Amino acid sequence: MNYDVKDINLSVKGNKKIQWAADDMPVLMKITKDFENEKPLKGAVVSACLHVTSETANLMIALKAGGADVCLCASNPLSTQDDVAASLVKDYGIEVFAIKGEDNKTYYRHINSALDKKPCISMDDGADLISTIHSKRRELIKNVLGGTEETTTGVIRLKSMEINRVLEYPIIAVNEAKTKHFFDNRYGTGQSTIDGILRATNILLAGKKFVVVGYGWCGKGVAMRAKGMGANVIILEVDPFKAIEAKMDGFEVMHSSEAAEIGEIFLSVTGNINVIGENILSKCKDNVIVANSGHFDAEIDLNYLKKNSKTVVEIRPFVKQYIMNDGRRINVLADGRLVNLGSAEGHPASVMDMSFANQALSVKYLYQNSSSLEKKVYAVPEDIDRSIAELKLKTMGINIDTLTNEQKEYLSSWESGT
Ligand code: ADE
Repeated sequence: MNYDVKDINLSVKGNKKIQWAADDMPVLMKITKDFENEKPLKGAVVSACLHVTSETANLMIALKAGGADVCLCASNPLSTQDDVAASLVKDYGIEVFAIKGEDNKTYYRHINSALDKKPCISMDDGADLISTIHSKRRELIKNVLGGTEETTTGVIRLKSMEINRVLEYPIIAVNEAKTKHFFDNRYGTGQSTIDGILRATNILLAGKKFVVVGYGWCGKGVAMRAKGMGANVIILEVDPFKAIEAKMDGFEVMHSSEAAEIGEIFLSVTGNINVIGENILSKCKDNVIVANSGHFDAEIDLNYLKKNSKTVVEIRPFVKQYIMNDGRRINVLADGRLVNLGSAEGHPASVMDMSFANQALSVKYLYQNSSSLEKKVYAVPEDIDRSIAELKLKTMGINIDTLTNEQKEYLSSWESGT
């Protein structure tokens, strides 16, 4: 068996974490049981490039139970839980190539190791695996039936590949499922981002001026939770609709040049480059905290910080303090990488339950239906999305109403009015 993990002896701790997460993932557990009985993935080789966490471990276990030959590499150099990686190898016989803190060269070596399995299904969170297949490992394309993509940033990259007619196989965009982005992006990112900032810094949020750059689903979640802990939240947006929404949700909305001078914590969650750049970093107060929860580490202009600072001190784990030429201190968390996975453990299992139920059922759908799919980015089929929502509600012990026949008829008619 091939693998590359930090220390295989960490497996005992990792296995406990995997089991702890499993207890909060009832939908995925039900799918795992069904997969065990039906083996819908028999013969499938699946290479997954996802954050190597205890929740992802349970997804890998589900796919294996379904009969797939699975291997896993990291979708971010800083998000791997080394104990979980060790346990997947030792206790579950799943090949893993991931070490927390790996450099870029190792990160891509690990992606290539996962690709050496010659997958028929690729799974991505950020599209690094699929873009490696399309650029450097094109000989693999002929084996691939389809792929899944977990996150907003990855879906944007893949849609651009589709539009430019370079996408070579069908993709299911898991992020488009309602049971994914309504919950994972908002409540998952909301909680885990605050968790990452607090674990790294142990600061008090109450009373702090907390600037959130980007008011998409993730930004909404972070703003809501920061407000809940007493922070004065300021939103920066470029989209006028979202800016109005943020204002009417009760937040301050302003230009980055104004926020730069008053903010104490700056958090980017836009999917775009240098949104915390010179505009903010040249003017911000002494000792501010700067972090990112967007997929790539491109949102904070680290080059600006490097060029305009005298020294950098690692003042706490996951906190690099740049001493600027003018004497101000700027504290960057988790090297500008996803703070929720870099200095905390990512989204809680209960929300990843729905995201990964979508992943598992999308892999099954692709394996069974690839011949009827084109080289396009597809949403998760509506019936899969709805079945996950219904099952999640059931596991939460919640019963909801259904439409009466009279109500259904009323909704489909146009004659009745005032
Ligand atoms: N993305 C965000 N949180 C995650 C988690 N806990 N596991 C895998 N991917 C994630």
